[in-house]
Amino acid sequence: MSEWDTIRLTFDGGVATLTVDRPDRLNALNVETLEAIEEALAEADEEGARALVLTGAGEDAFVAGADISYMRDLSTPEAQAYAELGHRVADKLERFPAPVIAAINGYAFGGGCELALACDLRVATEDAVIGQTEIDLGIIPGWGGSQRLPRLVGDEIARRLIFFGERIDAQDAHEHGLVGEVVAGDQLDDHVAELAADLAEKPAYALRAAKEALNQAHETSQEAGLRYERRLWSGLFGTHDQREGMGAFLDDREPEWE
Ligand code: COA
Repeated sequence: MSEWDTIRLTFDGGVATLTVDRPDRLNALNVETLEAIEEALAEADEEGARALVLTGAGEDAFVAGADISYMRDLSTPEAQAYAELGHRVADKLERFPAPVIAAINGYAFGGGCELALACDLRVATEDAVIGQTEIDLGIIPGWGGSQRLPRLVGDEIARRLIFFGERIDAQDAHEHGLVGEVVAGDQLDDHVAELAADLAEKPAYALRAAKEALNQAHETSQEAGLRYERRLWSGLFGTHDQREGMGAFLDDREPEWE
């Protein structure tokens, strides 16, 4: 198992947990941390993770954003490289072959919010604060926020959040559809662990196909998306899990997934 200075990757059964671990910087994402996340996602996949949890170390932050001290003096080409790295990490979360849950345990600003947007599900603590705050730094979201946020919360709310750079509490984020659930701070770990364990017990190929099909809904015309869904759906026939799931139902017994 690899070791990194700025993140941790741990496993509990089929559930991998990736913790951004720079609490003295409120888990802000510098280049080293983004590269480590990329490596850890590859490792979690190789180790056969059936669900992945993304969270932040310490009491205060999920991820307080891109690293402002690194960004301040970047030239345009350097900024482009940083944007590409952030995009790559967000894409890898979005395309990770198993479901990814963002456990938002505090501040999720700028790039932190964008990483959460690239996850499949978002659970926040009551005292989490979330926002695309880049406008007040003289920039805009650069790791996918302008594209993923409106899909989740609708165009008007996304414009408000990005134009005003407002920092909203978890309850408002839930009302906007930006997070799926809000839980008490001391319940986050257990609740997310339970969700992840439930997902890890589902048939992995079918879950992967479901994620791919849902991702397509945002990337293509409905006609092409429907064609893609048909292909994924029929591709599951003949797999162990399809035969087993249907057989178990008909035999009135619990299925045993691959
Ligand atoms: N990049 C780099 N460093 C960051 C950071 C970021 N995004 N967010 C916080 N830090 C650093 C602070 O500079 C501070 O460093 P210091 O101890 O050397 O002074 C340390 O983390 C603690 O942050 P601090 O601001 O003192 O904590 P706070 O509790 O008073 O405020 C926040 C917390 C999150 C409200 C505040 O840090 C903040 O607004 N951060 C910027 C958020 C942002 O705009 N992110 C989007 C970036 S794209």
